Amino acid sequence: MLLIKNGKVLINGEFLERSILIGNDGRIEKIAVDAKLKTADEVLDAAGKYALPGVIDVHVHCREPGLTHKEDFLTASKAAAAGGVATIFDMPNTKPATTTVALLEEKRKLAAAKCIVNYGFHFGATSDNIEEIKKVKNIAAVKVYMGSSTGNLLVTDEKMLNDIFGSGKRIMVHAENEAMIKANEEKHRSDSDGTKLHLKIRGNSAAAKEVERAIAIGRKHGTRLHICHMSAKEEAGIISAAKKSYNRLSCEVTPHHLFLTADSAKELGNYAKVNPPLRQKEDVAALWNAIASGTVDMIATDHAPHIREEKEQNYWNVPSGVPGLQTMLPLMLDAVNKGRLTLQQLIKLTSENPAAVFGVKGKGRIAVGMDADIAIVDMHKEKTIKNDEMLSKCGWTPFDGWKVKGVVAATIVNGKIIYGSGQISDEKTKGKEVIFNGN
Ligand code: NCD
Ligand code: ZN
Ligand code: ZN
Ligand code: ZN
Repeated sequence: MLLIKNGKVLINGEFLERSILIGNDGRIEKIAVDAKLKTADEVLDAAGKYALPGVIDVHVHCREPGLTHKEDFLTASKAAAAGGVATIFDMPNTKPATTTVALLEEKRKLAAAKCIVNYGFHFGATSDNIEEIKKVKNIAAVKVYMGSSTGNLLVTDEKMLNDIFGSGKRIMVHAENEAMIKANEEKHRSDSDGTKLHLKIRGNSAAAKEVERAIAIGRKHGTRLHICHMSAKEEAGIISAAKKSYNRLSCEVTPHHLFLTADSAKELGNYAKVNPPLRQKEDVAALWNAIASGTVDMIATDHAPHIREEKEQNYWNVPSGVPGLQTMLPLMLDAVNKGRLTLQQLIKLTSENPAAVFGVKGKGRIAVGMDADIAIVDMHKEKTIKNDEMLSKCGWTPFDGWKVKGVVAATIVNGKIIYGSGQISDEKTKGKEVIFNGN
């Protein structure tokens, strides 16, 4: 039994100082003012801090199997734990890609053996695995790359997309128009590594065009459709308008699109190469406005680690992607401290909405009977984000040197403290696969 004492807990829209008693089954047993609770064998003092529902990050590339020089389930989950993330949904663009039920079963074993936070899986769509898509069970969503990104998953054919979107599964899309990307690659083939080359190749219009297409197909089938990494101001407009009449539509934004711009590539070079690309100030402003207006359903990291050797090549050879698991919550807490959003909004974006949109059982809120996945955060403490403190195997972050106010003090997964006092405190206890309602 664990007792978390005197943290501030969101109860019916208000932060109240409460203690949380966690049962041996890893679920929350009681929430009360401290004097009303008996003590437990293990006590965590959270006085002066907030107890938030553990973050559910719906977009993570754990790289296992096949790409374990970049990351694996242990290192990704350690980074998650240090970042207050209690649940991660793994992406299918591994080697081999997760596109059959048998391959998913293999991946389930790998995660069960190593992952110290809770986990779920996305299933990859190809042009010929519709039967597998129909058969697969307990997945977060079917991930469709409607534009190529890292890895070789890609589906652009209209008929195939209709079959996939009509499969009855939740669908998640990487939407950038493949033909436009390819044409721009040809056009700029001989450009030198300019800071904005990636943005020239993957412009706003490529994202806008493909998001419109995804929404049109999804609408036709009544698909539960989730748009990955919304990044362009045009997308924000399209999604916000579509949501008025398409209520099964959702979207995420990433921390790198909220905090960095194409100009960041001046310092970061090709470390900043990511799909969709970092964009302009106006786009970043549109994303923050979309958070304020409620168009954005969730923040997801798109944690996509690549090692330094891979990132330190010329533009054309550098794989796209940046890590984000360990830094998302501190960056967002800092934004709360700066008044860019409220802590209540943040909880919706990082826990409540991901749980609701993906039908996650027993998670997303701190309440009696829910799984005890909790992030204890200190809103007053300041910290400088540093490459050498990153637990991801890639060992770097685009936010190196950034000073933030608001840090993760401890992370509790299924009632166990797995991160505290700046360290992973338990890497033997493994997380559990989440259960999805529907799909
Ligand atoms: C991702 C990766 O590296 O797996 N890269 C990226 O730039 N975001 C793939 C993806 O999500 O598009
Ligand atoms: Zn993507
Ligand atoms: Zn050019
Ligand atoms: Zn991704």
